[in-house]
Amino acid sequence: MTRNVLEVKELSTWFGTEDGQIAAVDRVSFVLKQGEVLSIVGESGCGKSVTAQSIMRLYEENGSVAYDGSILYDGADLLDHSPARMAKLRGNDISMIFQDPMSALNPVFTIGTQLTETIRAHRNVSRGEARRRAIEVLNAVGYPDPETGLRRYPHELSGGMRQRVVIAIAIACEPKILIADEPTTALDVTIQAQIVELIATLAKDRGMAVVFISHDLGLLAEVSHRVAVMYLGQIVELGTVAELFSQPAHPYTRGLMASALTLTGPLTHRLTTIAGTVPAITDRPTGCVFQDRCAYTTTQCRSQEPSTTELTGDHQVRCWNHDQLPAVLEGEPA
Ligand SMILES: Nc1ncnc2c1ncn2[C@@H]1O[C@H](COP(=O)(O)OP(=O)(O)OP(=O)(O)O)[C@@H](O)[C@H]1O
Ligand SMILES: [Mg+2]
Repeated sequence: MTRNVLEVKELSTWFGTEDGQIAAVDRVSFVLKQGEVLSIVGESGCGKSVTAQSIMRLYEENGSVAYDGSILYDGADLLDHSPARMAKLRGNDISMIFQDPMSALNPVFTIGTQLTETIRAHRNVSRGEARRRAIEVLNAVGYPDPETGLRRYPHELSGGMRQRVVIAIAIACEPKILIADEPTTALDVTIQAQIVELIATLAKDRGMAVVFISHDLGLLAEVSHRVAVMYLGQIVELGTVAELFSQPAHPYTRGLMASALTLTGPLTHRLTTIAGTVPAITDRPTGCVFQDRCAYTTTQCRSQEPSTTELTGDHQVRCWNHDQLPAVLEGEPA
């Protein structure tokens, strides 16, 4: 049995809005196993980034942001840690890669300085040792000629190379968990596939667990072990790639898949098969979160929140009607 490195239980994140405290992440639960790639998919505004940033505790817990639930890591709840202890964990135990590599790099310092400073912030090593380690991780991410690379500034690199450097910084201290929040959105399609492949290979070789966030089910399918589908702050379906792709149970998952099939490029912010967009968190309906865009909504869906149904194997869904849906849904290829 593979060990769980992270256990997220009933995690909620509330933001202060004009309508009061509203949950952007709503009782989200999942485990992350050692060496596995877990993907989180959903359209824009589903709560993917808020989930990721809550795990990293990147929102200050002040008057306007509050967390609930627990995030168990290494025998303790991250939500109980002091800000100082969290700061030590970030970049060392848990690393995050953001969408835009340019904003993750400092334009005024060389790649070498940024890499070695990250290493020296977490490891008590000499400059020489940090430099050696920097070259090693640049090599690991496929950066050609790392020795020269150390002297380059971010603007001298292509987008794909910059993202490789960002990944090198993220893995420099050998984190147990890597969270990649749409790490390829700014890149062209061939480079996207390379970067996704690279992250998956690093995870495999180093036993890192990865949370991979994307709009693009197609991109994730190749590298993920399990997939969590989010809608309006909730996980509506979670399963192994095999289960989810062969027997998607939630109408939303099926809509995402049908869209991925009908588009030639990556799935962007619009679903071709389900009209409308994700509502604002202040407009969360009573009952099922997906009711307003679902063609199969019943009175029960409008009044009662769907409970989690365990399907076969490692697969769960939150839909009252998952076993009564037609074999081919509207918009699905026959
Ligand atoms: N600081 C904040 N204050 C208030 N609401 C917020 C804040 N950050 C995010 N939200 C809201 O929380 C919801 C989820 O946002 P989130 O950024 O997690 O979406 P996402 O799934 O990552 O979307 P995308 O694919 O566009 O990155 C959105 O409705 C967003 O407007
Ligand atoms: Mg996001």
